[in-house]
Amino acid sequence: MTKYVIQGGRPLHGTVEISGAKNAAVAIIPAAILVDGVCRIENIPQISDVTLILSILQEMGASVRTVNRTTMEVDCSCIRNSRLAEGPARRLRASYYLIGALLGRFGSAEVPMPGGCDFGGRPIDQHIKGFMAMGAQVDVNGGYVHANAGGRLRGSQVYLDVVSVGATMNIMLAAALAEGMTVIENAAREPHVVDLANFLNSMGANIMGAGTDVIKIRGVSRLGGGSYTIIPDQIEAGTYMAAVAAAGGEARIENVIPKHLECITAKLQEMGVEVEEEDDAVIVRRTGPLNRTNIKTMPYPGFPTDMQPQMAVALCMAQGTSLLTEGVWDNRYRYVGELRRMGAQIQVDGKIAVIEGVGRLSGAKIQACDLRAGAAMVIAGLAAQGATEVSRVYHIERGYEDIVRKLSGLGADIRAVVAPEEEAAEENVG
Ligand code: EPZ
Repeated sequence: MTKYVIQGGRPLHGTVEISGAKNAAVAIIPAAILVDGVCRIENIPQISDVTLILSILQEMGASVRTVNRTTMEVDCSCIRNSRLAEGPARRLRASYYLIGALLGRFGSAEVPMPGGCDFGGRPIDQHIKGFMAMGAQVDVNGGYVHANAGGRLRGSQVYLDVVSVGATMNIMLAAALAEGMTVIENAAREPHVVDLANFLNSMGANIMGAGTDVIKIRGVSRLGGGSYTIIPDQIEAGTYMAAVAAAGGEARIENVIPKHLECITAKLQEMGVEVEEEDDAVIVRRTGPLNRTNIKTMPYPGFPTDMQPQMAVALCMAQGTSLLTEGVWDNRYRYVGELRRMGAQIQVDGKIAVIEGVGRLSGAKIQACDLRAGAAMVIAGLAAQGATEVSRVYHIERGYEDIVRKLSGLGADIRAVVAPEEEAAEENVG
């Protein structure tokens, strides 16, 4: 069991390079199931969620060749079976993309119900609604999603009742090889939705409108191999931006698409942080005090829910009272108790958190309770006076490549240490 030990209270200075986008990679890699040939995928982040999804594909019979640290060649043409073994798929939210991809290729799929971060209920009814509209029978029993179309799916009109990233991308996967046209209305517009559409189009699909709320997919009979580069990770970049805001200093954050960061940049600027945009970098600088602000999370292009915990830490360091409203998930404030141990003053009422800026946190022993909350704990440790120990960092390593090395490159005093067994046992309680 690894933990991070941080000596906080020192500003960050230097350059950090952002990896490929996790939430694009975990959809694009399963999308290779639809492709009859070799997919060369570049800018793959080295994170445990990606390792898991690659191992699931390999177990199903795919061949995966490592070209270099961030490039893989994935060939799924040898996969013959559309049923997944229980094991690792349950630990991963993104395993739901295997349903759309297998259904699109084989006309059937049997996939364990997905796992992932716990934010209250995480239904997949909109995914299922889409598959059923395309002619599949879908039922959930024995911990599995069973989907069967008895042949090729048929294109259809699907109106999403909620803007869902996962449902939009999953329906796109299922529709790429379907017969006829599928139209997704009220579609999600996140950068990774566009990235998946671009990947599929580069393999021969015919998808229009990704990035708007209406996506049209004209099914094709075959996708062939090709080469594709995943976009930079919007949330990883935003996390380093929030870290500079909370801890102070100046960092150049490279390999980003500044357009994808605009919602985060705007909020940081309101708080008195300077952000300069270049073609593929942003420079973030915080020298003075931070102002309070209000943030409401929403689907893209609104403020991303996956940046909410990190911004909560920055708001603890601000002057005045800020309101944070979670507009996507029912229960994404489980980390607040950990921040209170560091001196934060935060009251939560349902989806709203009232954050009293305290200007100063003090180091403590805290836990990562999910991926982004874990990143927020690290930021709190960087900003706090004294020593902080963050446990359960496996949550963080699901989605942040080399966070310790990257933060060390910004001058942070952070080390990963293996916790003694008795501490690891304590961590597992509850
Ligand atoms: C994706 O989850 C991301 N995960 C999440 O990021 C992110 O928080 C979320 O999108 C929102 O941006 C991956 O991409 C793997 P949704 P997803 O379907 O697809 C409701 C991270 O930290 N809903 O857009 O599961 C749902 O309850 C992770 O990187 C339904 O009601 O999210 C929620 O309130 C955590 N029925 C809202 O829609 C459905 O069938 C948005 O969920 C599907 C969703």
